[in-house]
Amino acid sequence: MSRGTGGMDQVVALERAALDALAATSDEAALEGWFRAYLGRKDGTLTGLLRQMGKLPPEERPSFGAAVNATKERVTAAYEARKAALGEVALTERLAAEAIDVTLPGRSGEFGTLHPTTLMTRELSQIFGLMGYQTIEGPEVEQTRYNFDYLNIPKNHPARDRWDTFWVNSGTATDEDQIVLRTHTSPMQARTMLKQDPPVRVIVPGRCYRYEAIDASHEAIFFQLEGLAVDKGITMADLKSTLTSMARQLFGSATKVRFRCDFFPFVEPGVDFSATCAVCGGRGCRVCKQTGWLELGGAGMVHPNVLRNVGYDPDKYSGFAFGLGIERIVMIKYGIDDIRNFYANDLRFLEQFAGTRI
Ligand code: PHE
Repeated sequence: MSRGTGGMDQVVALERAALDALAATSDEAALEGWFRAYLGRKDGTLTGLLRQMGKLPPEERPSFGAAVNATKERVTAAYEARKAALGEVALTERLAAEAIDVTLPGRSGEFGTLHPTTLMTRELSQIFGLMGYQTIEGPEVEQTRYNFDYLNIPKNHPARDRWDTFWVNSGTATDEDQIVLRTHTSPMQARTMLKQDPPVRVIVPGRCYRYEAIDASHEAIFFQLEGLAVDKGITMADLKSTLTSMARQLFGSATKVRFRCDFFPFVEPGVDFSATCAVCGGRGCRVCKQTGWLELGGAGMVHPNVLRNVGYDPDKYSGFAFGLGIERIVMIKYGIDDIRNFYANDLRFLEQFAGTRI
């Protein structure tokens, strides 16, 4: 056997060995190791073969070189194929590891719920909407002229003491321009009538503020719903039927409504109105303090002075107004015994209204 043939045998054996070792690689790290061992520039055995060429007789060198190069090409091609195959295996494994079961039921997010005051405001808006009332809103930070003066409550009138008012420091402003946090939604009576001619039919839900000693039935921040209807020929009978209809829609058709004389400077006559207790049906219980009645708010016929103040002719037009506490209605309807729940942000309280849809 010539040296040349021996060299060729070595090439063939090495190719066989390289391909066998390649087939045995099972991941990318093994493949890298294999590459260094056979095709590495420094000490790859196939690369080393070329270096042996110098030891061969010159006439054998071309065919040996060609054989080594051909081998290197085949082995390199096999290496590329193996690399691609292992890459695919890796991808398949990764995909398997990351697989998502699309048939699993989804996780639901944390949804907020509407506040009971909002729910009740919407319910009242719906009830009055069907009776032809428009729902409007007004400023919570108000001038005294709207909160008091237009409403027949002049400066030094004792009625101003009745609402313990939050005054906003308004410097040298004149009396009527003093700024207050509105103590009721009634200022919107004046603002509405100043803006439009009769007929008027509006309700005004909104936040009000009073400097109260806070307890189970008094909050410094609360919501009222104001109602105002002005037209030709409106009488107390309209007021009574409107509020009776509201109470029956809120608490059931057997509900009775009671009106008793009361005083508010912007109405004449003035009343407070109560509904038969929604809890005991009027027989008397803890909620109604055994009276069978629950007070809902104040009302009355718009005072002629108020009509005059806004430029309406009291000989031509008449109207009624009412104001009720929105939290109070929620409390009655859902048996809540402490108004402080409304602002406590306690989820155990709020979540109970999660299913209520208006
Ligand atoms: N604004 C009155 C209050 O806050 C309620 C009311 C409104 C009374 C309209 C009569 C007419 O107590």
